[in-house]
Amino acid sequence: MSTPTVEKHSAALDAAEADGTQLITVTLRIRRFNPEEHPDPVWVDYQLQMDPKERVLDALNKVKWEQDGTLTYRRSCAHGICGSDAMRINGRNRLACKTLLKDVNPEKPITIEAIKGLAVLKDLIVDMDPFFQAYKDVMPFLITKGNEPTRERLQSQEDRERFDDTTKCILCAACTSSCPVFWNDGQYFGPAAIVNAHRFIFDSRDEGAEQRLEILNDRDGVWRCRTTFNCSEACPRGIEVTKAIQEVKRALVTRRF
Ligand code: SF4
Ligand code: FES
Repeated sequence: MSTPTVEKHSAALDAAEADGTQLITVTLRIRRFNPEEHPDPVWVDYQLQMDPKERVLDALNKVKWEQDGTLTYRRSCAHGICGSDAMRINGRNRLACKTLLKDVNPEKPITIEAIKGLAVLKDLIVDMDPFFQAYKDVMPFLITKGNEPTRERLQSQEDRERFDDTTKCILCAACTSSCPVFWNDGQYFGPAAIVNAHRFIFDSRDEGAEQRLEILNDRDGVWRCRTTFNCSEACPRGIEVTKAIQEVKRALVTRRF
């Protein structure tokens, strides 16, 4: 395990010292993988001076911008909205931009690796194609029988609340990639696809529930769920993922939705 040390003193560091912020030395232990250089992944340590109230994403950016520009990861909004920076931090799926250093035991090396169950392309970047294919397969859009309305499609507040929780999904894949069934068999639709099917199955304006339920009745569908609750624990949006999956299972049995 190599440990690059850097003596750079950034403007941000100077500012932190000037306003009295207590900086701590943080070690990020990152699982690096570059198939063009080596067929196996390798853990590399990076030491940084950080404010413990900063986020893991800030630390990753600091590594990339000040120590090693080859470090590769996805991020965009930096505010928990785009869902692009899900990763395993200290063995648990989280969004790097929503995780404060002080909350992940920064006195010890913080391990960071790609989410599981999807092929790693480079460093923290995985191939999301199978994940998005499962999402597309459940038809995540409003289906109607062509009854074009003359005004907006109305819905009671109660009907809207029926699927409110599952509208919050940002497609980060933290749930699906924390699921042991998905790790063992990537054919399983996975929690995120079921959450997004739920969002439409229980929408009173939608008329495609039967089609979606039949898709999820497949051998790779909802019945593969073993109710381990990993998905609910992993979801950065607090969605009750396991509950949503249970509701889809029940709808398949009762045909009531
Ligand atoms: S349900 Fe939660 S964990 Fe799963 S993809 Fe959506 S936001 Fe991410
Ligand atoms: S960077 Fe967009 S959710 Fe973290």
